[in-house]
Amino acid sequence: REPLRDAAERTGRTVGVALAPHLLDDPAYRSVAEREFSLVVAENAMKWDSTEPNRGTFTWGGADEVAQFAADNDAELYGHTLVWHSQLPSWVSAITDPDDLRTAMTEHVSAVAGRYAGDVTAWDVVNEAFEGDGTRRRSVFQERLGDGYIEDAFRAARAADPDARLCINDYSTDGINAKSTAIYELVRDFLARGVPIDCVGFQSHLIVGQVPSSMEANLRRFSDLGIDVRITELDIRTTTPPTPAALERQAADYRTVVEACLAVTRCDGVTLWGVSDANSWIPGVFPGQGAALLWDEDYATKPAYTAVADALGAG
Ligand code: G3I
Repeated sequence: REPLRDAAERTGRTVGVALAPHLLDDPAYRSVAEREFSLVVAENAMKWDSTEPNRGTFTWGGADEVAQFAADNDAELYGHTLVWHSQLPSWVSAITDPDDLRTAMTEHVSAVAGRYAGDVTAWDVVNEAFEGDGTRRRSVFQERLGDGYIEDAFRAARAADPDARLCINDYSTDGINAKSTAIYELVRDFLARGVPIDCVGFQSHLIVGQVPSSMEANLRRFSDLGIDVRITELDIRTTTPPTPAALERQAADYRTVVEACLAVTRCDGVTLWGVSDANSWIPGVFPGQGAALLWDEDYATKPAYTAVADALGAG
């Protein structure tokens, strides 16, 4: 069947995948990644603990491998992520002086965004900054720097890479709720004050049978602000081993998500958070759940793959 990337291209969109560079040695993994996707993002390799494990000492091995894979396969390179409370090296959390922490943050943003300037098309500048009730997450950045750390990070990213689109990214923001509304208000405020922001990422780590009914309306309200939106980390998990009925329902859910993006002009695409069920993060974090992606553990396509291909109009 026609690759997903070719079908998506006809709609002006990309289909992305989170890449783990060490898995590229597996021919099954590599061939699916090469064939199907027009955007790649490092699942872990561009995060702070990977790129700056010690202050001022940068390690680019995995990140460069992902960037090279994108270049070799004519895929966009999406950057994930510059400022996040998780996968943060302990030296960052240990900084108590606010000015010093702000300097460490902006130097990190400048170095990482600067290295991939011209290659990365969009960055998740700040990841998961909000709680479910719409208040700010009490991260080390929030606690020591206050609300202004987000705009400081965005300004530093713009300075380091004027051509990359700059996004804020979060989970459980897929439907209209207190958390997505808090991000909506942040975007409105940034646009009103001229703080650089271009896009919002909706992670969409979903559960079979529980796609929020307001997903399309939510994407649209952001898009109506004049920014881009993207489904950035899509997977739809279920109890393992999955029943045939669950796999059919999962396929319908994938179709719903892809159609929501296609219905919104400024939704620039969908990224899957992994290739195969064999390598997904989910079973490690949610024991007894998984089977969340388009390829099964043996790299056979699942009903969800067919549903996505159908939704994109793949020939
Ligand atoms: O690299 C070490 C390895 O040296 C060590 O032996 C091994 C033992 O646990 O751990 C390895 O690190 C793991 C890393 O993935 C690389 O595989 C970490 O323990 C593990 O916590 C880490 O998990 C990642 C997780 O982010 C961290 O929060 C997942 O792979 C990754 O899929 C996940 O992705 C996040 C997005 O960035 C943000 N949104 C949510 C999403 C899912 O949690």
